[in-house]
Amino acid sequence: MATTTSKFGSGKRESHDAARFYGLSIYENDLRKLMEEILAAEPPQERAVPPRPLEEWADRIYCASSEAMDAVPDASVGLAFTSPPYNAGKEYDLDLSMGEYLALIRRVGQEVYRVLKPGGRYVVNIANLGRKPYIPLHAYFYLIHSLVGFQPAGEVIWQKGRGMNGSCAWGSWMSAKAPRLRDIHEYLLVFVKGEFSRADRGESDIGREEFMESTLSVWEISPESARKVGHPAPFPVELAERVIKLYSYTSDVILDPFAGSGTTCVAAARTGRPYVGYDISREYCQLAESRLKEVSR
Ligand SMILES: C[S@@+](CC[C@H](N)C(=O)[O-])C[C@H]1O[C@@H](n2cnc3c(N)ncnc32)[C@H](O)[C@@H]1O
Repeated sequence: MATTTSKFGSGKRESHDAARFYGLSIYENDLRKLMEEILAAEPPQERAVPPRPLEEWADRIYCASSEAMDAVPDASVGLAFTSPPYNAGKEYDLDLSMGEYLALIRRVGQEVYRVLKPGGRYVVNIANLGRKPYIPLHAYFYLIHSLVGFQPAGEVIWQKGRGMNGSCAWGSWMSAKAPRLRDIHEYLLVFVKGEFSRADRGESDIGREEFMESTLSVWEISPESARKVGHPAPFPVELAERVIKLYSYTSDVILDPFAGSGTTCVAAARTGRPYVGYDISREYCQLAESRLKEVSR
C-alpha cells in the first residue's frame, strides 16, 4: 500500500512522499483520545433486509457504499473477504481522521455482520502503516470488530516474499541510531459471527494438501501488480481463492464490501460460487465487471 502521488504506487508505503504521508489526518490522533472516542461513539444504525431469491441480488457488483448493503438479505452470505481502503493517501482515500476512519470500518463491519450466516467468517486483509509512529491498524481492527460483535478466530501472516520489498528505507544503514523495519507481510484477520463452527452443513472443495497448507498461519503468496490489474491496491486472486476454499462451502455467497477491481468476486466465480461486491468508484465497478466477464468466457 503505497502512500504515493502516483496511481499505481511502488508499494514502498510512505517512502515516496513522507511529508505528505505524515501530514495525513490519521496522524493527528493521540491513542488515549482515540480509544475514548471509539468507546463513546454511538453504535451505527441497525438495518434489516428480508430474504429474496438469490438470482435477484447475487452475482452483481453494486456501485454504492457498503455502509448500507440494502440489496443483501440478512444471514444470506457464507463468507466475506476484503481489503478496506487504508485512508492513507490513495486516490480513493478521503483523508479522514483515525476516529472517522474507524467509524466507517465499524459501519461496514456491522453490515457484514448482519448479512453473514451464523458461524460465517469475515476475513479482513490489512497492513500496518508508517513508522514515526507505527500505526498498528490491525490492533484497531480487533477493537472495532469486537464492538460490532465479531469474535476473533485467528490471524494469517501473508508473507509477500522476501525479495518483494525493494525499499531502501532502512532508516540508519548498519547503525543502531534509527534502524527501520521493512515490511514484507500483511495480515488476514479472521472474525466469526456467533459460534466458531458453521450452524449449517455444506460441501467443501479443498484438497488434502491444500487444507494442510492453508491451515498454517503463514501464507507465502506473491503480491499482485497494480499496473497489470489497473487498480492501486489489488490483492492476488490466489489469496482470495485460498480464503474462499478454506472458509466457505461451494454453495455459499461470497461478499466483498470493498471490492475494488473485483478480485474476491473473480475468485468466487472461478470456484463456482455466487458473489456480491460493493465499491463506491464507478471506474473500479466497471473494471470488476470486465474481469468477471473474462471468467465466464
Ligand atoms: C484496497 S481497495 C480493494 C482492492 C481489492 N481487494 C482488489 O483486489 O482490487 C479498497 C476499495 O474500497 C473502495 N471503497 C472506499 N470506500 C468505500 C465504501 N464506503 N464502500 C464501498 N467501497 C469503498 C475503494 O474505491 C477501493 O477500490
